[in-house]
Amino acid sequence: MKTIYSAIQPSGIMTLGNYIGAVNNWRAMQSDEDNKCIFALADLHTITVRQNPLEFNKNCWSFYALLLAVGLDVKKSVVYLQSHVAQHSELAWLLNCYTYVGEMNRMTQFKDKSAKHADNINMGLMDYPVLMAADILLYDTDLVPVGYDQLQHIEITRDIALRVNNLYGDIFKVPEGFIPKVGAKIMSLQDPTSKMSKSDPNPNAVISCLDAPEVIMKKFKRAVTDSDATIAYDPENKAGISNLLGILAVVEGKTIEQTVAECSGMRYGDLKVRVGESVIETLRPFREEYERLINSKDYLIACAKEGAQKAAEIAEKTLKRFKSAIGYII
Ligand code: TRP
Repeated sequence: MKTIYSAIQPSGIMTLGNYIGAVNNWRAMQSDEDNKCIFALADLHTITVRQNPLEFNKNCWSFYALLLAVGLDVKKSVVYLQSHVAQHSELAWLLNCYTYVGEMNRMTQFKDKSAKHADNINMGLMDYPVLMAADILLYDTDLVPVGYDQLQHIEITRDIALRVNNLYGDIFKVPEGFIPKVGAKIMSLQDPTSKMSKSDPNPNAVISCLDAPEVIMKKFKRAVTDSDATIAYDPENKAGISNLLGILAVVEGKTIEQTVAECSGMRYGDLKVRVGESVIETLRPFREEYERLINSKDYLIACAKEGAQKAAEIAEKTLKRFKSAIGYII
């Protein structure tokens, strides 16, 4: 039995990239009987960047409904909100005392976000990786599916776990990160050399999982390509077309080779329509389920409660183990 843990922040929008590269893979992992899956909304991480309360609240509901809409099942997996499980904050504090300021200062994401939010470089922003380590370590996690940008956070989680284990014996399981193969890199439709990002200010660059069909089609029709008019998979020289082919391949469950063979000779305009239609049909049932769930707040609350209870039960055991090793009266 392997324990899988991952989380997503309730901020911005859930993009096609988040769907294909993250949450839809989580659903696939959940269906493997050998996996014990735990998935969270990382809503404590989100306030490291200032949030408008009404919008933040709406995003928390929306992202939780999205997790269930994708098919995460609260009976099979643990699906909860991080802020509902106090052990995350408590372990983060303890781990702070085993983490060096210098290490946090060197984190790439901290440096990037400090530059982007120069007026609000708060302690939480710097401490973000420690909270993430707490998330992962609380559940004796074996595997953490993440995007490339999070690998450094997994590395520091491992360093912290090993440091604690060296001091006190076997307290934490040392987790491993991995990048799911399917949909690992869905790129921006407007700048196909950078990742499709949930916080991209240009709405044409990003497909939201909840975009209406005509909006999705319009965005694909406007996707940036190149001027040489031949369809080939070459991410370096033909980033836009390669991104479209990559998206088409994953939503249709085919290999890149199959997709290229099928589309070769097509006009760019026709390829865009083809990808648009495929994405629309892939997202349709997901969006419909979301619409149903977002109007069932009582059901969402019941699921979140069940998730938080199950999570807290596991988390408390790990926390007690660590506290008692440090010397606390428990
Ligand atoms: N930092 C992750 C992101 O922005 C979200 C996250 C928070 C996470 N806690 C986690 C991912 C624990 C994996 C495991 O994508």
